Amino acid sequence: MDALRRDGPTSLQRQIYEGIQAAILQGHLPVDARMPSTRGLAEQLNVSRVTTALVYERLINEGYLFSRSGSGTFVADTLPRSHRRSDRHEPLATAESLLSARGLGITARVTALARGAGAFVPGVADAQYFPFHIWRRLQNRYLKRNHAELAGYVEQGGYLPLREALCTYLYASRAVRCSPRQIIVTCGTHQSLDLLAKLLTDPGDTALVESPCHWGAPVVFSAAGLQCAALQLDEEGACLPDGETDARLAFVTPSHQYPTGRVMSLQRRRDWLSFAGARNLWLVEDGYDSEFRYDIDPLPAMQGLTSESRVIYLGTFSKVTFPGLRLSYLVVPDVLAEAFAKGMTQLYRPGFLATQAAMADFISEGHFASHIRRMRGVYAERRRLLKSSLETHFGQAIHYSHGQAGLHLAVRIGPPGTARKMLEQAGAFGLSLRGAYTLDPQADDGNLLVLGYGGIREGELDEAVQRLRALYEQCRS
Ligand SMILES: Cc1ncc(COP(=O)(O)O)c(C=O)c1O
Repeated sequence: MDALRRDGPTSLQRQIYEGIQAAILQGHLPVDARMPSTRGLAEQLNVSRVTTALVYERLINEGYLFSRSGSGTFVADTLPRSHRRSDRHEPLATAESLLSARGLGITARVTALARGAGAFVPGVADAQYFPFHIWRRLQNRYLKRNHAELAGYVEQGGYLPLREALCTYLYASRAVRCSPRQIIVTCGTHQSLDLLAKLLTDPGDTALVESPCHWGAPVVFSAAGLQCAALQLDEEGACLPDGETDARLAFVTPSHQYPTGRVMSLQRRRDWLSFAGARNLWLVEDGYDSEFRYDIDPLPAMQGLTSESRVIYLGTFSKVTFPGLRLSYLVVPDVLAEAFAKGMTQLYRPGFLATQAAMADFISEGHFASHIRRMRGVYAERRRLLKSSLETHFGQAIHYSHGQAGLHLAVRIGPPGTARKMLEQAGAFGLSLRGAYTLDPQADDGNLLVLGYGGIREGELDEAVQRLRALYEQCRS
Protein backbone atom coordinates (compact mmCIF):
# COMPACT_ATOMS: atom_id res chain seq x y z
CA MET A 1 0.00 0.00 0.00
CA ASP A 2 1.29 3.49 -0.81
CA ALA A 3 2.35 5.64 2.11
CA LEU A 4 -0.62 7.37 3.70
CA ARG A 5 -1.02 11.09 2.99
CA ARG A 6 -2.05 12.72 6.22
CA ASP A 7 -2.64 16.23 4.98
CA GLY A 8 -4.41 15.47 1.68
CA PRO A 9 -8.11 15.73 0.89
CA THR A 10 -8.68 11.94 1.06
CA SER A 11 -9.44 10.49 4.49
CA LEU A 12 -7.08 7.88 6.02
CA GLN A 13 -9.93 5.41 6.16
CA ARG A 14 -10.56 5.79 2.44
CA GLN A 15 -6.86 5.50 1.55
CA ILE A 16 -6.51 2.28 3.54
CA TYR A 17 -9.70 0.87 2.05
CA GLU A 18 -8.58 1.67 -1.51
CA GLY A 19 -5.08 0.30 -0.85
CA ILE A 20 -6.37 -3.08 0.37
CA GLN A 21 -9.00 -3.25 -2.34
CA ALA A 22 -6.39 -2.61 -5.06
CA ALA A 23 -4.02 -5.19 -3.56
CA ILE A 24 -6.79 -7.80 -3.68
CA LEU A 25 -7.93 -6.91 -7.20
CA GLN A 26 -4.38 -6.96 -8.53
CA GLY A 27 -3.63 -10.32 -6.92
CA HIS A 28 -0.99 -8.98 -4.49
CA LEU A 29 -3.14 -10.34 -1.66
CA PRO A 30 -4.06 -13.90 -2.75
CA VAL A 31 -7.30 -15.62 -1.91
CA ASP A 32 -7.35 -16.97 1.66
CA ALA A 33 -4.38 -14.82 2.71
CA ARG A 34 -4.70 -13.94 6.34
CA MET A 35 -5.03 -10.23 7.06
CA PRO A 36 -3.36 -8.58 10.04
CA SER A 37 -5.67 -7.94 12.98
CA THR A 38 -7.31 -4.51 13.10
CA ARG A 39 -5.11 -3.66 16.08
CA GLY A 40 -1.95 -4.87 14.32
CA LEU A 41 -2.76 -2.95 11.13
CA ALA A 42 -3.59 0.18 13.14
CA GLU A 43 -0.20 0.04 14.83
CA GLN A 44 1.59 -0.68 11.57
CA LEU A 45 -0.02 2.30 9.85
CA ASN A 46 -0.09 4.54 12.88
CA VAL A 47 -3.83 5.14 12.72
CA SER A 48 -6.59 4.52 15.22
CA ARG A 49 -8.03 1.07 15.61
CA VAL A 50 -11.51 2.44 14.90
CA THR A 51 -10.26 3.41 11.42
CA THR A 52 -8.97 -0.06 10.55
CA ALA A 53 -12.05 -1.70 12.07
CA LEU A 54 -14.31 0.43 9.84
CA VAL A 55 -12.19 -0.41 6.79
CA TYR A 56 -12.43 -4.15 7.47
CA GLU A 57 -16.13 -3.89 8.12
CA ARG A 58 -16.67 -2.27 4.72
CA LEU A 59 -14.43 -4.75 2.91
CA ILE A 60 -16.27 -7.64 4.55
CA ASN A 61 -19.64 -6.12 3.61
CA GLU A 62 -18.52 -5.74 0.01
CA GLY A 63 -17.21 -9.29 -0.16
CA TYR A 64 -13.45 -8.63 -0.42
CA LEU A 65 -12.71 -10.12 3.01
CA PHE A 66 -14.38 -12.61 5.29
CA SER A 67 -13.87 -13.33 8.93
CA ARG A 68 -13.67 -16.78 10.48
CA SER A 69 -14.67 -16.57 14.11
CA GLY A 70 -11.77 -17.09 16.42
CA SER A 71 -9.14 -17.27 13.70
CA GLY A 72 -9.09 -13.88 11.99
CA THR A 73 -9.89 -12.08 8.73
CA PHE A 74 -9.03 -13.48 5.27
CA VAL A 75 -9.08 -12.50 1.61
CA ALA A 76 -12.29 -13.79 0.07
CA ASP A 77 -12.73 -15.79 -3.10
CA THR A 78 -15.88 -14.08 -4.17
CA LEU A 79 -14.45 -11.59 -6.64
CA PRO A 80 -16.12 -11.26 -9.99
CA ARG A 81 -14.13 -13.57 -12.26
CA SER A 82 -13.22 -10.75 -14.61
CA HIS A 83 -11.37 -9.04 -11.74
CA ARG A 84 -9.02 -11.96 -11.30
CA ARG A 85 -5.71 -11.65 -12.97
CA SER A 86 -5.68 -15.27 -14.16
CA ASP A 87 -9.15 -14.90 -15.65
CA ARG A 88 -8.52 -11.70 -17.56
CA HIS A 89 -9.99 -11.79 -21.04
CA GLU A 90 -8.11 -10.71 -24.08
CA PRO A 91 -8.21 -6.91 -24.26
CA LEU A 92 -11.06 -5.66 -26.41
CA ALA A 93 -10.07 -5.15 -30.03
CA THR A 94 -10.57 -1.89 -31.93
CA ALA A 95 -13.86 0.00 -31.71
CA GLU A 96 -14.34 -0.57 -35.47
CA SER A 97 -14.35 -4.33 -35.03
CA LEU A 98 -16.82 -4.12 -32.16
CA LEU A 99 -19.40 -1.72 -33.53
CA SER A 100 -22.49 -2.86 -35.38
CA ALA A 101 -22.90 -1.87 -39.03
CA ARG A 102 -25.27 0.82 -37.81
CA GLY A 103 -22.78 1.98 -35.18
CA LEU A 104 -20.09 2.21 -37.83
CA GLY A 105 -22.39 4.25 -40.05
CA ILE A 106 -23.20 6.66 -37.22
CA THR A 107 -19.57 7.24 -36.31
CA ALA A 108 -17.97 7.01 -39.76
CA ARG A 109 -17.87 10.69 -40.67
CA VAL A 110 -16.62 13.12 -38.06
CA THR A 111 -19.26 15.79 -37.90
CA ALA A 112 -19.54 17.74 -34.63
CA LEU A 113 -16.69 20.20 -34.15
CA ALA A 114 -14.46 19.68 -31.15
CA ARG A 115 -14.66 23.35 -30.15
CA GLY A 116 -17.89 24.95 -28.99
CA ALA A 117 -16.96 28.55 -29.70
CA GLY A 118 -14.32 30.72 -31.28
CA ALA A 119 -13.40 31.58 -34.87
CA PHE A 120 -15.34 30.42 -36.95
CA VAL A 121 -17.43 27.73 -35.26
CA PRO A 122 -20.77 27.85 -37.10
CA GLY A 123 -24.21 27.78 -35.62
CA VAL A 124 -23.33 28.70 -32.06
CA ALA A 125 -24.97 31.50 -30.14
CA ASP A 126 -23.01 33.99 -28.05
CA ALA A 127 -24.00 32.84 -24.58
CA GLN A 128 -22.13 35.71 -22.96
CA TYR A 129 -25.02 38.01 -23.76
CA PHE A 130 -27.59 35.67 -22.35
CA PRO A 131 -29.27 37.18 -19.26
CA PHE A 132 -28.17 34.43 -16.89
CA HIS A 133 -29.14 36.53 -13.86
CA ILE A 134 -32.77 36.43 -15.00
CA TRP A 135 -32.52 32.78 -16.01
CA ARG A 136 -31.14 31.84 -12.60
CA ARG A 137 -33.95 33.67 -10.87
CA LEU A 138 -36.57 31.88 -12.96
CA GLN A 139 -34.96 28.51 -12.43
CA ASN A 140 -34.72 29.09 -8.71
CA ARG A 141 -38.41 29.80 -8.68
CA TYR A 142 -38.93 26.12 -9.55
CA LEU A 143 -35.98 24.58 -7.75
CA LYS A 144 -36.23 26.33 -4.39
CA ARG A 145 -39.66 25.12 -3.44
CA ASN A 146 -41.21 21.75 -3.90
CA HIS A 147 -43.18 21.72 -7.14
CA ALA A 148 -44.81 18.33 -7.09
CA GLU A 149 -46.06 18.77 -10.65
CA LEU A 150 -42.45 19.05 -11.89
CA ALA A 151 -41.03 16.17 -9.90
CA GLY A 152 -42.61 13.19 -11.61
CA TYR A 153 -42.34 11.74 -15.07
CA VAL A 154 -43.04 14.32 -17.74
CA GLU A 155 -46.55 15.15 -18.79
CA GLN A 156 -46.99 13.91 -22.29
CA GLY A 157 -45.45 16.22 -24.85
CA GLY A 158 -43.86 18.56 -22.33
CA TYR A 159 -44.82 21.20 -19.76
CA LEU A 160 -48.12 22.74 -20.83
CA PRO A 161 -47.39 26.43 -20.01
CA LEU A 162 -44.26 26.22 -22.19
CA ARG A 163 -46.26 24.78 -25.05
CA GLU A 164 -48.82 27.56 -24.61
CA ALA A 165 -46.15 30.25 -24.59
CA LEU A 166 -44.50 28.73 -27.66
CA CYS A 167 -47.79 28.61 -29.49
CA THR A 168 -48.30 32.37 -29.14
CA TYR A 169 -44.67 33.11 -29.97
CA LEU A 170 -44.58 30.89 -33.07
CA TYR A 171 -47.74 32.42 -34.49
CA ALA A 172 -46.53 35.98 -33.97
CA SER A 173 -42.99 35.40 -35.22
CA ARG A 174 -43.40 32.84 -38.01
CA ALA A 175 -47.10 32.44 -38.70
CA VAL A 176 -46.97 28.87 -37.43
CA ARG A 177 -50.55 27.84 -36.64
CA CYS A 178 -51.04 25.31 -33.92
CA SER A 179 -52.58 24.57 -30.57
CA PRO A 180 -50.41 23.77 -27.52
CA ARG A 181 -51.13 20.04 -27.81
CA GLN A 182 -49.48 20.01 -31.24
CA ILE A 183 -46.16 21.08 -29.72
CA ILE A 184 -43.86 18.33 -28.46
CA VAL A 185 -40.90 19.49 -26.40
CA THR A 186 -37.67 17.59 -27.05
CA CYS A 187 -34.08 17.84 -25.92
CA GLY A 188 -32.46 18.88 -29.19
CA THR A 189 -33.23 18.75 -32.88
CA HIS A 190 -31.60 15.33 -33.19
CA GLN A 191 -34.20 13.93 -30.83
CA SER A 192 -36.97 15.62 -32.82
CA LEU A 193 -35.60 14.04 -36.00
CA ASP A 194 -35.25 10.64 -34.39
CA LEU A 195 -38.78 10.75 -33.02
CA LEU A 196 -40.39 11.71 -36.30
CA ALA A 197 -38.31 9.22 -38.28
CA LYS A 198 -39.31 6.40 -35.96
CA LEU A 199 -42.98 7.34 -35.85
CA LEU A 200 -43.54 8.19 -39.51
CA THR A 201 -41.25 5.85 -41.41
CA ASP A 202 -40.04 2.27 -41.46
CA PRO A 203 -36.50 1.01 -42.05
CA GLY A 204 -35.79 0.95 -45.76
CA ASP A 205 -37.98 3.98 -46.54
CA THR A 206 -36.46 6.94 -48.32
CA ALA A 207 -35.89 10.40 -46.86
CA LEU A 208 -35.17 13.30 -49.20
CA VAL A 209 -32.61 15.64 -47.66
CA GLU A 210 -31.25 18.95 -48.95
CA SER A 211 -27.65 18.64 -49.95
CA PRO A 212 -25.55 20.28 -48.64
CA CYS A 213 -27.24 20.21 -45.27
CA HIS A 214 -26.76 20.12 -41.53
CA TRP A 215 -25.14 16.75 -40.80
CA GLY A 216 -27.68 15.88 -38.09
CA ALA A 217 -30.55 14.97 -40.41
CA PRO A 218 -28.79 12.33 -42.55
CA VAL A 219 -26.98 10.84 -39.55
CA VAL A 220 -30.17 10.44 -37.52
CA PHE A 221 -32.27 9.29 -40.49
CA SER A 222 -29.71 6.70 -41.56
CA ALA A 223 -29.49 5.39 -37.99
CA ALA A 224 -33.28 4.95 -38.12
CA GLY A 225 -32.77 2.75 -41.18
CA LEU A 226 -33.76 5.29 -43.84
CA GLN A 227 -32.12 5.67 -47.22
CA CYS A 228 -31.24 9.33 -47.70
CA ALA A 229 -31.52 10.80 -51.19
CA ALA A 230 -30.18 14.26 -52.06
CA LEU A 231 -32.38 17.21 -52.94
CA GLN A 232 -30.64 19.66 -55.24
CA LEU A 233 -30.75 23.39 -54.52
CA ASP A 234 -31.37 26.22 -56.95
CA GLU A 235 -32.01 29.93 -56.56
CA GLU A 236 -35.47 29.28 -55.12
CA GLY A 237 -34.36 26.73 -52.54
CA ALA A 238 -34.68 22.94 -52.41
CA CYS A 239 -35.84 21.56 -55.79
CA LEU A 240 -38.66 19.09 -56.03
CA PRO A 241 -37.59 15.62 -57.11
CA ASP A 242 -37.40 15.19 -60.88
CA GLY A 243 -39.61 12.17 -61.33
CA GLU A 244 -41.97 10.25 -59.13
CA THR A 245 -40.78 9.36 -55.66
CA ASP A 246 -41.90 6.96 -52.99
CA ALA A 247 -40.00 8.92 -50.31
CA ARG A 248 -41.81 9.25 -46.99
CA LEU A 249 -40.34 12.56 -45.94
CA ALA A 250 -38.34 15.54 -47.15
CA PHE A 251 -36.09 17.55 -44.84
CA VAL A 252 -35.82 21.25 -45.77
CA THR A 253 -34.65 24.51 -44.20
CA PRO A 254 -36.75 27.05 -46.12
CA SER A 255 -36.24 30.11 -43.92
CA HIS A 256 -32.44 29.94 -44.16
CA GLN A 257 -31.01 26.98 -45.99
CA TYR A 258 -28.19 25.42 -44.05
CA PRO A 259 -25.48 26.13 -44.96
CA THR A 260 -25.93 28.17 -48.13
CA GLY A 261 -28.31 30.72 -46.60
CA ARG A 262 -30.83 30.60 -49.46
CA VAL A 263 -34.42 31.52 -48.60
CA MET A 264 -36.99 29.30 -50.26
CA SER A 265 -39.31 31.34 -52.47
CA LEU A 266 -43.00 31.49 -51.65
CA GLN A 267 -43.80 29.80 -54.95
CA ARG A 268 -41.43 26.91 -54.16
CA ARG A 269 -42.98 26.55 -50.72
CA ARG A 270 -46.40 26.23 -52.29
CA ASP A 271 -45.06 23.74 -54.83
CA TRP A 272 -43.66 21.59 -52.06
CA LEU A 273 -46.90 21.73 -50.11
CA SER A 274 -48.98 20.58 -53.04
CA PHE A 275 -46.38 17.95 -53.99
CA ALA A 276 -46.42 16.55 -50.45
CA GLY A 277 -50.20 16.80 -50.22
CA ALA A 278 -50.62 14.72 -53.37
CA ARG A 279 -48.34 11.98 -52.04
CA ASN A 280 -47.76 10.19 -48.84
CA LEU A 281 -44.89 12.58 -48.03
CA TRP A 282 -44.09 14.49 -44.85
CA LEU A 283 -42.34 17.84 -45.14
CA VAL A 284 -39.93 18.35 -42.27
CA GLU A 285 -39.41 22.11 -42.03
CA ASP A 286 -36.46 23.08 -39.84
CA GLY A 287 -36.73 26.73 -38.75
CA TYR A 288 -33.54 26.46 -36.69
CA ASP A 289 -32.38 30.11 -36.73
CA SER A 290 -35.31 31.98 -38.26
CA GLU A 291 -35.23 34.54 -35.43
CA PHE A 292 -32.19 36.17 -36.98
CA ARG A 293 -32.97 37.99 -40.23
CA TYR A 294 -31.23 41.25 -40.81
CA ASP A 295 -32.78 42.59 -44.01
CA ILE A 296 -36.35 41.57 -44.75
CA ASP A 297 -39.08 40.13 -42.57
CA PRO A 298 -39.03 36.35 -42.62
CA LEU A 299 -41.44 34.63 -44.98
CA PRO A 300 -44.20 32.75 -43.17
CA ALA A 301 -43.33 29.20 -42.28
CA MET A 302 -44.58 26.55 -44.69
CA GLN A 303 -46.40 25.03 -41.77
CA GLY A 304 -48.88 27.93 -41.61
CA LEU A 305 -49.49 28.28 -45.33
CA THR A 306 -52.26 25.69 -45.53
CA SER A 307 -54.62 24.32 -42.96
CA GLU A 308 -54.36 20.69 -44.07
CA SER A 309 -50.61 20.67 -44.13
CA ARG A 310 -48.34 17.66 -44.14
CA VAL A 311 -45.64 19.65 -42.40
CA ILE A 312 -43.72 18.79 -39.25
CA TYR A 313 -42.15 22.04 -38.06
CA LEU A 314 -38.92 21.89 -36.03
CA GLY A 315 -37.61 24.64 -33.78
CA THR A 316 -34.80 24.94 -31.27
CA PHE A 317 -33.80 27.26 -28.43
CA SER A 318 -30.13 26.60 -29.16
CA LYS A 319 -29.57 29.55 -31.45
CA VAL A 320 -31.65 32.05 -29.50
CA THR A 321 -30.42 31.15 -26.04
CA PHE A 322 -27.50 28.71 -25.81
CA PRO A 323 -27.06 25.18 -27.16
CA GLY A 324 -26.17 23.60 -23.81
CA LEU A 325 -29.77 24.15 -22.76
CA ARG A 326 -30.83 21.28 -25.07
CA LEU A 327 -34.37 22.46 -25.50
CA SER A 328 -36.23 22.20 -28.78
CA TYR A 329 -39.62 21.25 -30.11
CA LEU A 330 -41.67 19.87 -32.95
CA VAL A 331 -45.04 21.10 -34.16
CA VAL A 332 -47.06 18.25 -35.59
CA PRO A 333 -50.48 18.19 -37.28
CA ASP A 334 -53.31 17.90 -34.78
CA VAL A 335 -54.13 14.39 -35.89
CA LEU A 336 -50.64 13.25 -34.85
CA ALA A 337 -50.43 15.22 -31.59
CA GLU A 338 -51.41 12.42 -29.25
CA ALA A 339 -49.35 9.79 -31.03
CA PHE A 340 -46.22 11.99 -30.91
CA ALA A 341 -46.70 12.75 -27.23
CA LYS A 342 -47.06 9.03 -26.57
CA GLY A 343 -44.11 8.17 -28.79
CA MET A 344 -41.95 10.69 -26.95
CA THR A 345 -42.79 9.03 -23.64
CA GLN A 346 -42.41 5.50 -24.96
CA LEU A 347 -39.00 6.14 -26.48
CA TYR A 348 -37.28 8.67 -24.24
CA ARG A 349 -39.14 9.21 -20.95
CA PRO A 350 -38.27 12.90 -21.23
CA GLY A 351 -37.65 15.24 -18.32
CA PHE A 352 -36.22 18.67 -17.51
CA LEU A 353 -39.61 19.98 -16.41
CA ALA A 354 -38.12 22.68 -14.18
CA THR A 355 -36.12 23.98 -17.17
CA GLN A 356 -39.26 23.94 -19.28
CA ALA A 357 -41.13 25.83 -16.57
CA ALA A 358 -38.40 28.46 -16.38
CA MET A 359 -38.46 28.82 -20.17
CA ALA A 360 -42.24 29.27 -20.13
CA ASP A 361 -41.80 32.23 -17.77
CA PHE A 362 -38.81 33.53 -19.73
CA ILE A 363 -41.05 33.77 -22.79
CA SER A 364 -44.25 34.98 -21.17
CA GLU A 365 -42.51 37.67 -19.08
CA GLY A 366 -40.97 39.16 -22.24
CA HIS A 367 -37.29 38.28 -21.62
CA PHE A 368 -37.16 36.01 -24.64
CA ALA A 369 -38.38 38.69 -27.05
CA SER A 370 -36.02 41.32 -25.68
CA HIS A 371 -33.07 38.92 -25.83
CA ILE A 372 -33.85 38.15 -29.47
CA ARG A 373 -34.10 41.87 -30.27
CA ARG A 374 -30.77 42.52 -28.61
CA MET A 375 -29.01 39.59 -30.28
CA ARG A 376 -30.39 40.50 -33.68
CA GLY A 377 -28.52 43.81 -33.35
CA VAL A 378 -25.35 42.13 -32.08
CA TYR A 379 -25.24 39.53 -34.85
CA ALA A 380 -26.16 42.00 -37.59
CA GLU A 381 -23.19 44.15 -36.58
CA ARG A 382 -20.91 41.14 -36.35
CA ARG A 383 -21.97 39.96 -39.74
CA ARG A 384 -21.29 43.41 -41.17
CA LEU A 385 -17.84 43.50 -39.58
CA LEU A 386 -16.98 39.99 -40.79
CA LYS A 387 -18.00 40.84 -44.33
CA SER A 388 -16.07 44.06 -44.35
CA SER A 389 -12.98 42.35 -42.93
CA LEU A 390 -13.26 39.58 -45.54
CA GLU A 391 -13.52 42.22 -48.25
CA THR A 392 -10.38 43.92 -46.94
CA HIS A 393 -8.28 40.76 -46.65
CA PHE A 394 -9.67 38.64 -49.48
CA GLY A 395 -11.07 41.11 -52.02
CA GLN A 396 -12.31 39.18 -55.04
CA ALA A 397 -10.99 35.82 -53.81
CA ILE A 398 -14.18 35.16 -51.91
CA HIS A 399 -17.80 35.02 -53.06
CA TYR A 400 -20.61 35.33 -50.60
CA SER A 401 -23.58 33.09 -50.76
CA HIS A 402 -27.12 34.11 -50.15
CA GLY A 403 -29.13 35.73 -47.44
CA GLN A 404 -28.81 38.17 -44.61
CA ALA A 405 -29.66 35.86 -41.79
CA GLY A 406 -28.52 33.43 -39.16
CA LEU A 407 -25.25 32.97 -37.34
CA HIS A 408 -22.91 32.14 -40.18
CA LEU A 409 -21.74 33.38 -43.54
CA ALA A 410 -21.26 30.80 -46.29
CA VAL A 411 -18.50 31.76 -48.71
CA ARG A 412 -17.10 30.21 -51.87
CA ILE A 413 -13.40 30.32 -52.25
CA GLY A 414 -11.25 29.24 -55.19
CA PRO A 415 -9.36 27.67 -56.83
CA PRO A 416 -11.25 24.33 -56.59
CA GLY A 417 -10.25 22.21 -53.62
CA THR A 418 -8.74 25.11 -51.66
CA ALA A 419 -11.52 25.15 -49.08
CA ARG A 420 -11.09 21.40 -48.53
CA LYS A 421 -7.40 21.87 -47.78
CA MET A 422 -8.21 24.79 -45.50
CA LEU A 423 -10.58 22.58 -43.52
CA GLU A 424 -7.82 20.05 -43.00
CA GLN A 425 -5.25 22.58 -41.85
CA ALA A 426 -7.45 25.06 -39.96
CA GLY A 427 -6.53 23.70 -36.52
CA ALA A 428 -2.89 24.69 -36.95
CA PHE A 429 -4.09 28.28 -37.41
CA GLY A 430 -6.34 28.15 -34.35
CA LEU A 431 -9.45 28.17 -36.51
CA SER A 432 -12.48 25.87 -36.58
CA LEU A 433 -13.89 25.66 -40.06
CA ARG A 434 -16.73 23.79 -41.60
CA GLY A 435 -17.34 22.98 -45.22
CA ALA A 436 -20.39 21.71 -47.00
CA TYR A 437 -21.80 18.46 -45.62
CA THR A 438 -23.14 16.73 -48.70
CA LEU A 439 -24.96 13.41 -48.70
CA ASP A 440 -22.44 12.08 -51.16
CA PRO A 441 -18.96 13.33 -50.14
CA GLN A 442 -17.91 13.04 -53.82
CA ALA A 443 -20.53 15.66 -54.71
CA ASP A 444 -18.77 18.30 -52.62
CA ASP A 445 -16.79 20.62 -54.88
CA GLY A 446 -14.56 21.54 -51.94
CA ASN A 447 -15.14 25.27 -52.39
CA LEU A 448 -17.54 26.16 -49.61
CA LEU A 449 -16.60 27.45 -46.19
CA VAL A 450 -19.10 28.09 -43.44
CA LEU A 451 -17.89 30.94 -41.25
CA GLY A 452 -19.74 31.21 -37.95
CA TYR A 453 -19.70 34.53 -36.13
CA GLY A 454 -21.90 33.66 -33.14
CA GLY A 455 -18.98 32.48 -31.03
CA ILE A 456 -16.46 35.24 -31.76
CA ARG A 457 -16.36 38.76 -30.36
CA GLU A 458 -16.24 41.85 -32.58
CA GLY A 459 -12.75 42.82 -31.40
CA GLU A 460 -11.34 39.44 -32.42
CA LEU A 461 -12.89 39.22 -35.85
CA ASP A 462 -10.35 41.03 -37.95
CA GLU A 463 -7.40 39.16 -36.47
CA ALA A 464 -9.20 35.86 -37.09
CA VAL A 465 -9.83 36.84 -40.71
CA GLN A 466 -6.12 37.60 -41.09
CA ARG A 467 -5.35 34.08 -39.85
CA LEU A 468 -7.89 32.79 -42.34
CA ARG A 469 -6.04 34.66 -45.07
CA ALA A 470 -2.72 33.14 -43.97
CA LEU A 471 -4.33 29.69 -44.05
CA TYR A 472 -5.68 30.45 -47.52
CA GLU A 473 -2.23 31.46 -48.76
CA GLN A 474 -0.83 28.18 -47.52
CA CYS A 475 -3.58 26.11 -49.11
CA ARG A 476 -4.23 27.62 -52.50
CA SER A 477 -2.43 25.79 -55.17
C1 LIG B 1 -30.05 23.28 -39.70
C2 LIG B 1 -29.88 23.04 -38.23
N1 LIG B 1 -30.91 22.55 -37.53
C3 LIG B 1 -30.77 22.30 -36.21
C4 LIG B 1 -29.59 22.53 -35.56
C5 LIG B 1 -29.33 22.17 -34.13
O1 LIG B 1 -30.25 22.32 -33.23
P1 LIG B 1 -30.14 21.66 -31.78
O2 LIG B 1 -29.14 22.42 -31.01
O3 LIG B 1 -31.53 21.78 -31.30
O4 LIG B 1 -29.70 20.24 -31.93
C6 LIG B 1 -28.51 23.04 -36.24
C7 LIG B 1 -27.26 23.27 -35.49
O5 LIG B 1 -26.31 23.79 -35.91
C8 LIG B 1 -28.66 23.31 -37.60
O6 LIG B 1 -27.63 23.79 -38.30
